[in-house]
Amino acid sequence: MDNTKLEFLSPRLNEVITNFLKTRRSNLVRLMSSPGPSKQELRELLNIASRVPDHRKLTPWRFIVFQGESRRKFGEHLRQAYLKANKNSPSDRIIFETEKFLRAPTVIAVVSSPKKCPRGTPEREQIITSGLVCYNLCLAAQAAGYGAQWLTEWCAYDVNILSAMGVEASEAISGFIYIGTVNDPPQERPRPNVDDLLINWT
Ligand SMILES: Cc1cc2nc3c(=O)[nH]c(=O)nc-3n(C[C@H](O)[C@H](O)[C@H](O)COP(=O)(O)O)c2cc1C
Repeated sequence: MDNTKLEFLSPRLNEVITNFLKTRRSNLVRLMSSPGPSKQELRELLNIASRVPDHRKLTPWRFIVFQGESRRKFGEHLRQAYLKANKNSPSDRIIFETEKFLRAPTVIAVVSSPKKCPRGTPEREQIITSGLVCYNLCLAAQAAGYGAQWLTEWCAYDVNILSAMGVEASEAISGFIYIGTVNDPPQERPRPNVDDLLINWT
């Protein structure tokens, strides 16, 4: 995908599409540093992230924010959960897993929290909506000048971690969104050719 201007777009849309959406990429968490968004900025990013299509306005998601010391404190849960599942792991790996949330100044768990809906909104649609929140949060953070990456890794599926975060049995982690400062733009990666993905139904 190149970033040639599209002639049929207004200058404003060209800015959004050509300089942002057409070239958008995730930022690698290992290249992130401080600062991350302030509490006030983060609140704004979460407000923007929450502007998603949501069938029957069920709001089937919630956020758990890790900033500052809470990232280190949560490391003890990560260490114990990782060790439980990986008894003979080398010590450098254990340290890496313990310090997972310290890789970026801000980590947000987006919890998929489907609601019982008397009108029968499918759970699948509610889960999709929580994924939209994850992506919207990445977009908002990047538009605000931060780097963002959506990760799940083992901790999104570990019962001990879910319990330590207070995630209910009916809920799940849609993603951990890591947000921080990045200095270099990410390199492009291969993208699908949409011609291979579409049919024109006749
Ligand atoms: C639901 C979900 C979970 C993901 N989990 C991981 C992960 O655990 N580890 C990882 O390296 N990338 C993971 N990714 C991929 C990255 O977020 C990202 O898609 C990848 O770095 C390239 O993204 P880009 O196309 O936005 O540049 C996940 C993506 C999604 C949508």
